[in-house]
Amino acid sequence: GVKIVTIGGGSSYTPELVEGFIKRYDELPIRELWLVDIEEGREKLEIVGAMAQRMVKAAGIDCTVHLTLDRREALKDADFVTTQFRVGLLQARIKDERIPLSHGMIGQETNGAGGMFKALRTVPVILSIVEDMKELCPNAWLINFTNPAGMITQAVLTHGNWKKVIGLCNVPIGATKMDAAALGVEEEDLRFQFAGLNHLHWHKIKDTKGNDRTMEVIDKLTDVSGVDSGIANLKMLRFLPEQIKDLGMIPCGYHRYYYMTDVMLADELEEYNTIGTRGEQVKKLEDSLFELYKDPNLDYKPEELSKRGGTHYSDAACEVINSIYNNKGTTMVVSTENNGTIDDLPYDCAVEVSATIDASGAHPVNWGKFPASARGLVQVMKAMEELIIEAGATGDYGKALQAFTMNPLVVSGDGAKALLNEMLVAHEAHLPQF
Ligand code: NAD
Ligand code: G6P
Ligand code: MN
Ligand code: MN
Repeated sequence: GVKIVTIGGGSSYTPELVEGFIKRYDELPIRELWLVDIEEGREKLEIVGAMAQRMVKAAGIDCTVHLTLDRREALKDADFVTTQFRVGLLQARIKDERIPLSHGMIGQETNGAGGMFKALRTVPVILSIVEDMKELCPNAWLINFTNPAGMITQAVLTHGNWKKVIGLCNVPIGATKMDAAALGVEEEDLRFQFAGLNHLHWHKIKDTKGNDRTMEVIDKLTDVSGVDSGIANLKMLRFLPEQIKDLGMIPCGYHRYYYMTDVMLADELEEYNTIGTRGEQVKKLEDSLFELYKDPNLDYKPEELSKRGGTHYSDAACEVINSIYNNKGTTMVVSTENNGTIDDLPYDCAVEVSATIDASGAHPVNWGKFPASARGLVQVMKAMEELIIEAGATGDYGKALQAFTMNPLVVSGDGAKALLNEMLVAHEAHLPQF
């Protein structure tokens, strides 16, 4: 049987993951699921862990769900390790959102200064997990969901020197559903090719006869009224039609931060001054989800979980594990080592691309070159990520300031330095490397 370890097991997403494993049990016989958390997450772990145990029992499968604060005990002889932790919990996310916004800049969990600080806090933790894995489960696969998922996957590859890692995001799944709905066809009738970085990828669409359908979707996308992204935290604010048509590829939802910075900043500031940042909204949602999870009769994933942005997560995580375990060759969009898939980026960086997944891991579909319009942004952002990963691993202030200077969402100069300094103090407790 298979042993899975989930780090950050107290996450409200855990029932989604458990549901995915239950659905696939015949193909993927998981005998042990270890949910790992830390002291600050003990209460969440106990509530969601009990819920996971009820789900498994109701499904009648032969699988034991273990709850522990002892990561090393859990990792022993694991086959797959999934990571879904949040260093500093939602309080840290709320700082990542509020502090940049108070400086008049985008404050978001994976983009701009907020996303960079989430990486700085997370890199030391993921690297220590990798060190434990080298010792306790050297043959295991690491399936990373922890954001910023692309940077964390790259840190594992380059600074952890661990190659058996695959990074995941639910955005491509939401996008393919949206595209099929926009064209009024079934997803199975379309062929998608994605390339770029996590939360910064583009894609093209063909039908099964090989006809390109990309421009048709772009026409619909640039007039989105009525089309839903299926991703709760991303509003469907309109793209500029002329720009997207010139691009000739479909941007991901997060491109709005770069293509429509003024609109997105105004929207964030409006929320920040009224209903609160996304993190503050999520705090309320999470509290009500955990109230539901406490119900001793609840033994299935409640519908309310789809109000979180990470919906479809289990489809991605469970299917990657299933495809590796059963050597299936399924096509999925994952973060993996570039190795020349995208000509415009270094070989050893992480990219988010369409790939087939089998027992030997992810095999990306070759993409080639980007047009200048996408190449410029993707190269700047990848260099920015490389600097942040280095700063996260070493505590190098100069590298962090370079990354702030380069990121288009941080206005460079005295303001960038002031923002960096303020955030370093605010997150001090979770930045031992600085
Ligand atoms: P959360 O705030 O519920 O955190 C999950 C758990 O991690 C908490 O119980 C917390 O105590 C625990 N934790 C914190 N530090 C830990 C450590 N060092 N070791 C073990 N556990 C630790 O977070 P969430 O909203 O469930 O999100 C979890 C993670 O998944 C975040 O990093 C989030 O950004 C990410 N996420 C990714 C995607 C994606 O598309 N890849 C989608 C949604 C969420
Ligand atoms: C998604 C993304 C995640 C993101 C999350 C936020 O759209 O793919 O990477 O950070 O959902 O969801 P939340 O409900 O926490 O705002
Ligand atoms: Mn994501
Ligand atoms: Mn900048």
